[in-house]
Amino acid sequence: MLPAMTKVRPVRKAVLPVAGLGTRFLPVTKAIPKEMLPLVDVPVVQVIVEECLASGIEEIIFVTSRGKEPILDYFDRAADLEALLERKQKWSELEIVRHVSEIARISSVRQPEAKGLGHAVLCARAAVGDEPFAVLLGDDILEGRRPALRQLLDVYERSAEGVVGLYQVPAGQEHMYGIVKGDLVDERVYKLNQLVEKPDPGKAPSRLAVIGRYVLPPEIFGILASTPPGRGGEIQLTDALSTLCGTQGLMGVEIEGQRFDAGDRASYVLAVLSFALRRADIGAAVRAGIEKMLSEA
Ligand code: UTP
Repeated sequence: MLPAMTKVRPVRKAVLPVAGLGTRFLPVTKAIPKEMLPLVDVPVVQVIVEECLASGIEEIIFVTSRGKEPILDYFDRAADLEALLERKQKWSELEIVRHVSEIARISSVRQPEAKGLGHAVLCARAAVGDEPFAVLLGDDILEGRRPALRQLLDVYERSAEGVVGLYQVPAGQEHMYGIVKGDLVDERVYKLNQLVEKPDPGKAPSRLAVIGRYVLPPEIFGILASTPPGRGGEIQLTDALSTLCGTQGLMGVEIEGQRFDAGDRASYVLAVLSFALRRADIGAAVRAGIEKMLSEA
C-alpha cells in the first residue's frame, strides 16, 4: 500500500510537446498540425489542455516548431472575430471563442529541430525551472470518469516519485510500445523495475505500455542532457526514464478510462465518433446515422 499523502512539491506546470512532424497523418499534416485535428469541432490539443486544467495544472508550456503557429493562434485572442460576433449578436459563439483564449496561462518554447521527444522536453528546461512538472502527448486521448493526469498526480502526491501513465495493450502489440516491468503496490499502481522500449515479439515483460502522460521531477532535465541519441538518432524520453527508474525510482499507474491513439487513423476516427456520440447536440443524430450505415452495409 502507498502511504497517505506526503508533503510533495506541487505540480503546477505541464509541458505539451507539439513539435513533431506528424508523418503518420500525411497528407493533412503537410499544412495542419496534427494536434489541431478536430474531435468534431474541438481540436485534440484543447481536449489535452482541458485535461490539464481539470487535474489542477496552472500553466501550459508548448514545445513548438515551424508550422505550429496555428496552435498558439488558436489559444490567442481573436479581436476581429470577437467584434464581428458581437455585431451579429452571436452570443453563444462569442462565449465559445472567448473561453478558448482565456482557458489557461500559456507560453511556448521552440524546438529548432525534431530531435526526439526527450529533446523536446529538454527544450522546456528553463521554462519549467527547478520544480516537478507534467508532460502530456496529444497522441493519447483518454476519456474517463477522472482526468488521466489527475490519476498520475494522485500517485505522485503519495509516492513523491516520478509517475508514468500505463495502459494494457492487446497481446501481440507489445513490440510497438515501451513496456514496463514492475511490482503491483496498490490498486492499478506499480513500482517500476524496468522499461523496455519496443521489445522483440514474445520478449515483453508485461502488456503494460507507457503512454503519453508523465509526472517528472526536475532532475530529468540533467538526465536528458546527458542521454545520447538513441533509436533513430533521436534523444528518447524512454532512455531517460530508464535512468530515472534506476536512480530516483519511478511509479506507473494503469490509467482508468478509454484510450484513443490520435496518431493512428482508425483510432482517431473512433475518437471522433466517441466524442460525437456523447454530445447532447448531435449524439442522437450520429447514432441514428451509424445504425443506418451499418444496416445498409
Ligand atoms: P511522435 O513520434 O508520435 O510524433 O511523437 P510525430 O513525430 O509528430 O509523429 P509521426 O511519428 O511523424 O507521425 C510523440 C509526441 O512528441 C512530439 C510530437 O509532436 C508528439 O506530440 N515530438 C516528437 C516533439 O515535440 N519533438 C520531436 O522531435 C519529436
